[in-house]
Amino acid sequence: MNANEIRDKFLKFFESKGHLIVPSAPIVMKDDPTLMFMNSGMAQFKDYFLGNKKPPAPRIADTQKCLRVTGKHNDLEDVGHDTYHHTFFEMLGNWSFGDYFKKEAIEWAWELLTEVYGLPKERLYVTVFGGDAEEGLEADEEAKALWLRIVPEDRILYGSKKDNFWEMGDTGPCGPCSEIHIDLRDEAEIAQLPGRELVNKDHPLVIEIWNLVFMQYERMSDGSLRPLPAKHIDTGMGFERLCMVVQGKKSNYDTDLFQPIIKAVAQKAGVHYGDNSKTDVALRVIADHVRAITFTIADGQLPGSTGAGYVIRRILRRAVRYGYTFLGFQEPFLFELVDILANMFEDVFPEVKQQKDFVSNVIREEERSFLRTLDTGLKRLEQYFEAHAEKQVIDGKTAFELYDTFGFPIDLTALIARERGFRVDMEGFESEMQKQKERSRSATALETGDWVVLHSDNEVEFVGYDTLSCEAKLLKYRKVKEGKKTFYQLVFNRTPFYPEGGGQIGDRGVVRILGSDVQIPIVDTKKENDLIVHFTTDERWLSVDGLADKIFLLEVNKEKRLAAQRNHSATHLLHAALKKVLGDHVAQRGSLVSDEVLRFDFSHFSALTQEEIITIEKIVNEKIRENIALDERRSVPIQEALEMGATALFGEKYGEYVRVITFDENYSRELCGGTHVRATGEIGYFVIASESSVAAGVRRIEAYTGAKAVEYARRHIDLVQESKHMLKAKDLKKSIEQLISEKQSLSKEIERLKAEKVSAIKKTLLEKKQEVDGVNYIVDKVALPDGNALKQLAFELRNQVQNLVLILGAEVGEKAQLAIMLSDSLVKEKGWHAGNVVKEAAKEINGGGGGQPFFATAGGSKKEGLDRAIQKAKDLLK
Ligand code: SER
Repeated sequence: MNANEIRDKFLKFFESKGHLIVPSAPIVMKDDPTLMFMNSGMAQFKDYFLGNKKPPAPRIADTQKCLRVTGKHNDLEDVGHDTYHHTFFEMLGNWSFGDYFKKEAIEWAWELLTEVYGLPKERLYVTVFGGDAEEGLEADEEAKALWLRIVPEDRILYGSKKDNFWEMGDTGPCGPCSEIHIDLRDEAEIAQLPGRELVNKDHPLVIEIWNLVFMQYERMSDGSLRPLPAKHIDTGMGFERLCMVVQGKKSNYDTDLFQPIIKAVAQKAGVHYGDNSKTDVALRVIADHVRAITFTIADGQLPGSTGAGYVIRRILRRAVRYGYTFLGFQEPFLFELVDILANMFEDVFPEVKQQKDFVSNVIREEERSFLRTLDTGLKRLEQYFEAHAEKQVIDGKTAFELYDTFGFPIDLTALIARERGFRVDMEGFESEMQKQKERSRSATALETGDWVVLHSDNEVEFVGYDTLSCEAKLLKYRKVKEGKKTFYQLVFNRTPFYPEGGGQIGDRGVVRILGSDVQIPIVDTKKENDLIVHFTTDERWLSVDGLADKIFLLEVNKEKRLAAQRNHSATHLLHAALKKVLGDHVAQRGSLVSDEVLRFDFSHFSALTQEEIITIEKIVNEKIRENIALDERRSVPIQEALEMGATALFGEKYGEYVRVITFDENYSRELCGGTHVRATGEIGYFVIASESSVAAGVRRIEAYTGAKAVEYARRHIDLVQESKHMLKAKDLKKSIEQLISEKQSLSKEIERLKAEKVSAIKKTLLEKKQEVDGVNYIVDKVALPDGNALKQLAFELRNQVQNLVLILGAEVGEKAQLAIMLSDSLVKEKGWHAGNVVKEAAKEINGGGGGQPFFATAGGSKKEGLDRAIQKAKDLLK
């Protein structure tokens, strides 16, 4: 079976057991502050487990794109060194939301593995949770009894909390789990040591393939466990491992999921996979990492210098670095592999093929820039070797700087150091590393208190499309500390406050408490999974009695909201205009819609011409003047919306039902949750303020609408008026051109006059030349426009006069300048030194200076001393 068939069989199997098959959620998390990336199949279903939201079906199955590189589940450092860990992987899973529980989960897992995939029963082991005294949890005898009906007792093991109690993160749904492991060793080895001794012992051939989690609890932020409203099933099977097992391989990398990439890279490097452990590790690292970055970029996350973007950049750099060090790649190479992945995953994850060119361009640019950095780092290291030849140690600070700024992993620095007979101060490095970790921890530490629950219902109704104020009750609140800041988060059962999303900022406003004069200023609104969370820094409301029984009046700041929605509707008009003018390849890559400005990032490969910008702006303003009425449709089935031609975004997770925003069905139709104007005329006026580049193949437009746009235009008109006035110009452009050309000819004239003056002075000086004992003295005070002219004059005389001693003084502005020039012959034969002489003489002008033996200058503040300085220099040089 090839990988695609194996994946298919899984989905078909669970479909036959009544499961709804759903697509993978995007890798990058939105609206969940506890996770940066999808780290497991269940992460997208968290709200169903917690009871915050109703699932579309009680039974679901899918394959989920996962990335385990941050937080609780982080495998990055292992990747490449073993044969079964990955950064990016697919997790096959089946779920029950309050429907079936342990019995079916266990029986179906067994049936699928042994009957559909035909795995040998006698090589399978299962583990069950053995209990934990500290948590007050009993062993899972129920699971054990269920397993005993299909597996002999000697292949069932109890496991500790570490292995058999699954948690998604520091908080969230969790529960005991039961894992299925397989022993893939040769018969001879098995005869020597039974597989049960190796379960969960990191043996590469006795590995876990499937984890069945019995979700029963929620982990609270104080560490306690709270039972969930219902019991659920969450299973996760590592797809790459399953392929290895079914295909009879001993390493994930030997399956058809990785071999095409490994072969391509090995061929390019002129090596053979399996020949050399160092190049093998590099090939595995590259094969793994290129998948991680390709899928994540296709899901909308660009490499960058902060947050999720930085994680992606580091993974990419790790791959480039292995290629550079062990495979000799000094030019970008990862980007070429995107093609292979695009074809391989065409059917399950078509987003890669759809964006192939874009993804590979982004990767190539990142590679280029990192290779340059690597180069700079190597040079830096060379300088260090030269400067510290006696010590033969690279200190911790330098090693850390190389790591942090130049992306040099410490083992690379150590490797290069060894080649040069140096060692690295590892302790120093570790301590720098520690310091940085603490710095970043204290910068981002977020302490989230538990919710104080006033009403246990979790349904939150958003009424902000239709009204800007409403009455509500407060469901729950909590305190959050971020660094030194403290704020409160409030959740109401109903709210007109738009939570930040789709680029549009969250609403601000005020909440009044009826029957009290305390008001709660709301400074931001965000989504957390499906909750709408209102932020306030105020705490007076906490002392109001009986919060649970109060009626709250929620009022959105109307002015800011209207300004934001003008920008949002204008963003849609702009998006459509861009497609019209630049072409269909234009895809939204990011957007910010605030009450001040709109910023729109989109894929396009070159800077826009002035003409294109003007055309785009013109189209948008035409659409505004047409005053097109908003056509808003809520709860459209996703399929229907797409058939209507609505634009969907890559990396965005859409539910079964979506909202469709149309401004003229022949012009702009998008899936969108944001708020909009009732008709485009409300936007007033649209003006593009700038167009720039944000990343390889991504352009950014910043624009204003409404009052801001008028203000922007007014400012520019005023500027033109004032300039006209200052220049007394009828035609401003012509006047400026004139001014520039006048300035150019004046500068030329000045240069010519200066040259004339210098040559006149030179002539006089040559006439003043005095010969004493074969040495030609020219000593004088001259009037020169600047220090440069003095220097130039000195060099010209040196070329014309043999055995020259030239001593020149000049007053330049408020300063006295002194220059001494000697012919080489005098420096050599007499041992004279212009630098030493100038230093001595400059004392007379209260100055300092120096230079080489043949030429030196000095400047000083005491102009009256210039004659004496000249005299002194002359005396010294006789
Ligand atoms: N959540 C569990 C895991 O990720 C099972 O899907 O291992």
